[in-house]
Amino acid sequence: MSDVHDGRAENEQIEYAAHSLEPAEGKDEEEQLEAHVAELRHRIEEANYQYFVNDNPVLTDAEYDQLMIELQRIERENPELQTPDSPTQRVGAGPVQDVPQHLHPVPMLSLANARSERELLDWHRRAQNILPNATFSYVCELKIDGLAMALTYEQGRLVTGASRGDGLIGEDWTPNVRTIRTITHKLRGKRVPPKVEVRGEIYMPIKSFEQLNEDMSDTRLFANPRNAAAGSLRQKDPRITATRNLSFFGYQIGYVEGMRINSHWETLELLKEWGFPVNPNVQLVHNLEDVMAYCNKWEKERFNLPYEIDGVVIKINDLSHQEELGTVARDPRWAIAFKYPPIQVATKLLDIRVNVGRTGSLNPWAVLEPINIRGVTVSRASLHNEGDIQRKDLRIGDWVLVQRAGEVIPQVVKPVVERRTGQEEVYHLPERCPFCDTPIIRIPDQAMAYCPNKECPERILQSVIHFVSKGAMDIESIGEKMSEQLVNAGYIKTLSDFYHLTEEQLLALEGVKKKSADNMLTAIEASKKRPFWRVLFGLNIRYIGEKSAQLLASAFGNIDALKQASAEEIIKVPGVGPEIGQSVYSWLQDTDNLALIERLRAAGLTLEEERVEITGPLVGQSFLLTGRLQAMTRGAAEEALIRLGGKIATGVSKSLTHLIVGEDPGSKLAKAQKSGVAIHDEEWLVNLLNEHAEA
Ligand code: IVH
Repeated sequence: MSDVHDGRAENEQIEYAAHSLEPAEGKDEEEQLEAHVAELRHRIEEANYQYFVNDNPVLTDAEYDQLMIELQRIERENPELQTPDSPTQRVGAGPVQDVPQHLHPVPMLSLANARSERELLDWHRRAQNILPNATFSYVCELKIDGLAMALTYEQGRLVTGASRGDGLIGEDWTPNVRTIRTITHKLRGKRVPPKVEVRGEIYMPIKSFEQLNEDMSDTRLFANPRNAAAGSLRQKDPRITATRNLSFFGYQIGYVEGMRINSHWETLELLKEWGFPVNPNVQLVHNLEDVMAYCNKWEKERFNLPYEIDGVVIKINDLSHQEELGTVARDPRWAIAFKYPPIQVATKLLDIRVNVGRTGSLNPWAVLEPINIRGVTVSRASLHNEGDIQRKDLRIGDWVLVQRAGEVIPQVVKPVVERRTGQEEVYHLPERCPFCDTPIIRIPDQAMAYCPNKECPERILQSVIHFVSKGAMDIESIGEKMSEQLVNAGYIKTLSDFYHLTEEQLLALEGVKKKSADNMLTAIEASKKRPFWRVLFGLNIRYIGEKSAQLLASAFGNIDALKQASAEEIIKVPGVGPEIGQSVYSWLQDTDNLALIERLRAAGLTLEEERVEITGPLVGQSFLLTGRLQAMTRGAAEEALIRLGGKIATGVSKSLTHLIVGEDPGSKLAKAQKSGVAIHDEEWLVNLLNEHAEA
């Protein structure tokens, strides 16, 4: 808090000082203390609101601290008076073990994009075609680059803060959300409904993001404020979130009980009344020219904002129009995101170098003259492959345009040909691996070049880094640096060597103490329990990503079945293409790889799918969907049903218990009508999912 600096604040302060801090007389002691605690909390929250939301300090730092210290003292001495929504909890309660899932009673939709005026007009035309007689007005909002949150309030009190997830099921991060100063724990004002879900964006101001990156060691830099906000919210320990200066803008009501709202503008007014920060740059306009003017204005002015935006959101104001327009797939027809092109800056391409990846691929990258793009210094960028360099005609010494479009690795977009001097050099990939000098090979019809040497030190290092990484075996206490030490010491020549490491070996490494050696050994031991698909993903088979590893693991069930499969059988698995199929097949023909699998088996790793017992309220029921759904995609609906224990049937059969019918149903409906299966509409499905979300 900063010092009170304006006259108004001083006046309000006098009014505040009129409330006594001393407990009132006449009540019994316990009641007095409770009333006193309530008063302290009220005054602290009021000061928070005035300071963080209204930018209008009403207490000095010292006064604020005094109230806080007193409240903390009382809560410490009287633990029965502690509540999760006390302002003392804004510093964060203890770490959470599990992050519970949160089923969104009303799906959290995403937005269709318009990237030009033309696309914006198309969107408008589609809406007008559906409602030819309607006169629309529009609310224009900035599209804040953060993460969407759904905040549920019951009787005015914050009960859950959940992330969007896949739109149907998110994660419940309530203890962390409570630490965000601009999120009120209690709704303000007179019109407080029994239950409401407020939606908005959690974001990190650019200054805080830059500060955070400065404070962190190099390896943990966040690429942009959005990643920093997501990474800071999703902390197992809310006390860390509390230190991260996250903020919030409210922009939507998911649902509300006992209250009628007619327009989106009214929604925003209500959010302000309840104490939420609403972005001050929202605007209600009545024609498309003004919408376009808003988009153009903020495209230029966005760089002066203290937070990042990646576009503008345009929402049709009238809620009855919104209802009539409905949604397509997961996007509402009544709103659109006008996206701005990513930020591009020019810098010099000083050199092109190559890395060798975990599967032996040669990956060129650009050495750039360091340049700051919105808070992040960029000095290197990925160049994908040689073909990409040729296509873009990038030459060493060129001025190039570099962009950071929110992705972690910046991209080189194109050379600035007008600035060429003639001194620039055309680039060719080396003929030999820069790490082991083995001649590189090129596979016909593929853009990539490879180092074929399985003992290439760089390839081994990268494969080890991948094996221990979070998505694969998740050996937590071993990061890139430690992987490098282990490989350099000669302890890890092949992945199975992890399972024979000894404490003595680890203690011999520079900077390793007993505690960290023990942590590493425990983490290695724990990795034996990782499911089969993660092992598959960890093996560094070319083209195998997380998704394909999951598909293969569930299709074949264990490594031996996969070993026996022909390339054709592997390719037949839905979602596994010929490139992946061929790659897995040939990897499994190699005797060194087969020997590695046997060593991993002997070490006790999981090489078969665990048969998980299915639980949930819908166990024993099977569902089949036909036709288009309005509120969600079919895939999302199926996923939600599976998570609740239901089964998805492949066709109408005797064992089918429910058929759900969307728009334009297929032949399944007629079949189901004949066979007497229970038939339901989408509303029934939504109610079913909601019912179990609340359970
Ligand atoms: S409205 C159906 N308004 O953009 C309405 N979203 O691309 C959906 N976002 O998930 C959301 N600022 O995370 C809305 N003023 C704003 C927004 C906004 C940022 C994000 C939000 C959403 C994503 C959709």
